[in-house]
Amino acid sequence: MKLGRNDLCWCGSHRKYKSCHMAFDEKIEQFRDQGILVPDHSIIKTPEQIEGMKKSAAINMACLDAVAKEIHEGMSTQEIDDIIYRVTTEMGGIPAPLDYQGFPKSVCTSINDVVCHGIPDEEEILMDGDIINVDVSTIYNGYFSDSSRMFLIGNVSEENKKLVRVTKECVEKGLEKVKPWVTLGDMAQEVHEHAEKNGFSVVREIGGHGIGLEFHEDPWVSYVANAGEEMLMVPGMCFTIEPMVNAGAPDVVLDDEDGWTIYTEDGSNSAQWEIQVVVTETGYEVICY
Ligand code: MF3
Ligand code: CO
Repeated sequence: MKLGRNDLCWCGSHRKYKSCHMAFDEKIEQFRDQGILVPDHSIIKTPEQIEGMKKSAAINMACLDAVAKEIHEGMSTQEIDDIIYRVTTEMGGIPAPLDYQGFPKSVCTSINDVVCHGIPDEEEILMDGDIINVDVSTIYNGYFSDSSRMFLIGNVSEENKKLVRVTKECVEKGLEKVKPWVTLGDMAQEVHEHAEKNGFSVVREIGGHGIGLEFHEDPWVSYVANAGEEMLMVPGMCFTIEPMVNAGAPDVVLDDEDGWTIYTEDGSNSAQWEIQVVVTETGYEVICY
C-alpha cells in the first residue's frame, strides 16, 4: 500500500505525507536499491515514544546510581538484585529481565570472566579486585530502557582497570559515529578497532539491539562489523551500544547448567558498558546510560 502525497503520514503526526516522511522514505528507498539493509517503519520512534522511553530510562539510571552508591566488597550479587527490584518498583517500573524467557532475577550481574547474563545469587560475594558489570533494563508504561555500567571492587589490578576504561572508550568512540544515513558498521568499526589497538578482542556472537516498545527489536547490533556494513541508521531509530570486550580471545561459552551465564572460553576477564541511543536528524541523543 503506497501512501499518496496528501494522505496522512504513517508516523502518526497527523500531517500530510508530502510534508512529513515522504522525502525520508524516498531516501531510504535509494539505500535499499544500493543493497543496503534498511529499517522498517515499525522501529522508527515518534517524539511521544521517545518521551516514554526517557521516563523508563530515568528509572533505569536511578537503579544504577543506587548500585553505584551501595556496591561494596563482601556484598552478594543477590543484594544488587534487591536494590534493582526495590528502586524499580518504588518508581512504578517493572524490571525487564524478571521472567524474561525464564530469567529468574531482576538484573544481570557479570563478574570477571563472565561476559554477560550472570544471575544474581546470595552465595556469590564481591571480592577485592573484582570487576563487575551490572546490566539493568526497565519497563515503564510499556516503554523499555536498557543500560549497564562496570564497577571496580577494592584494589583492582592495572590490567583490569585498563580493560574497563578501554571498553568505556569503545562505547564513546562508537557513539561519535552515530548519525543518520550511514550504517551501524561505521559505529562498530570504531568499537572493535579501539579494543584491538589496546590488545583486547570483541565478542562476535552477542550484540546489541533495537529497543523501545519491546525489549529486543530490530536491528541486531554487531560490534565487529565494518564501515558500510549492517543496517542504515535513520532519525528515530533507537538501539543499544553495548560491546563485550575480552582481555584474551573473543570466544565465549554458555553455562549449560543455568542456561544463561556466558563466560570467556579462555578464562580471561571481560568488560561491558551499555548505553541506549536515539538517532536524531543531525547525530545522536543518549537517552540511557
Ligand atoms: N540487557 C541484557 C541484554 O540486552 C538483558 C538480557 S536478558 C536477561 O542483552 F534476561 F538476561 F536479562
Ligand atoms: Co541490551
